[in-house]
Amino acid sequence: MKKSSELDEIKKLHLPRHVAFIMDGNGRWAKQNGLERSDGHAAGAEVAEKVVRLCNDVGIKYCTLYTFSTENWKRPTEEVEFLFQTLVYYLESKSPEMIERGVRIRFTGHIESLPEKAFNTAQNIEKSSEHCDKLHMILALNYGGRQEIWDAFLRMYEQVKNGEIKESVLHDENSEFLRSFLNLPDVPDPDLLVRTSGEKRLSNFLLWQLAYSEMIFTNVHWPDFDKVEFFKVLSEYSKRNRRFGGLKMP
Ligand code: IPE
Ligand code: IPE
Ligand code: MG
Repeated sequence: MKKSSELDEIKKLHLPRHVAFIMDGNGRWAKQNGLERSDGHAAGAEVAEKVVRLCNDVGIKYCTLYTFSTENWKRPTEEVEFLFQTLVYYLESKSPEMIERGVRIRFTGHIESLPEKAFNTAQNIEKSSEHCDKLHMILALNYGGRQEIWDAFLRMYEQVKNGEIKESVLHDENSEFLRSFLNLPDVPDPDLLVRTSGEKRLSNFLLWQLAYSEMIFTNVHWPDFDKVEFFKVLSEYSKRNRRFGGLKMP
């Protein structure tokens, strides 16, 4: 009884349409609890699944999870391998139920460079969840914001070079034009970025899309990010006054 009324209270708030998470602190959480880093990643994957479920429950339409950055290859091979094994396990075991709940599973980043099993699993799930549109869960995998902007530039350059876009068009357009060359142009920019673990940086995440996002940094490590924390964050977001350079809320 209490459960549903709490959810109803949250749903009454002004919620983000798109929330993006930098899921950080798995390793430190593990250390603090006398565990291995891999245990932290396993715990973190469970939290990711719960957070997506909560997004769906409150009616958020897009949830992007920073899962593996272009810089995370610098980590020891065993850790990288464990991360992709965990990813495959979660995608395979949880996606049927997610699809049933209307979750479309999408990816941003160079997934073709992932280990073959992870790449194939990602591609299959993207395809089999294509018809879902209650919530878009976007996993940023082998993703870097600078890489995405560079890729966008190259796509645009190719089209100018082969005559699909007239060079003069570029002078008439504004910076919004670049959006259509980014990885997922149909996805609206995040309204809210949440980073756990106390770090206050973007670490190369969605550099273009976060231009006007609200940002909330919490000290909680990702494996401890639960419903209470999430609802606190949503409640804080709902009180923010977004002006987009103007003088009052649009
Ligand atoms: C986030 O936790 C998970 C990934 C980057 C894949 P970390 O592994 O970065 O945890 P810390 O920052 O070392 O505590
Ligand atoms: C950002 O976390 C990447 C992901 C959460 C996937 P990192 O832990 O890699 O970031 P830095 O190295 O602390 O900036
Ligand atoms: Mg980290």
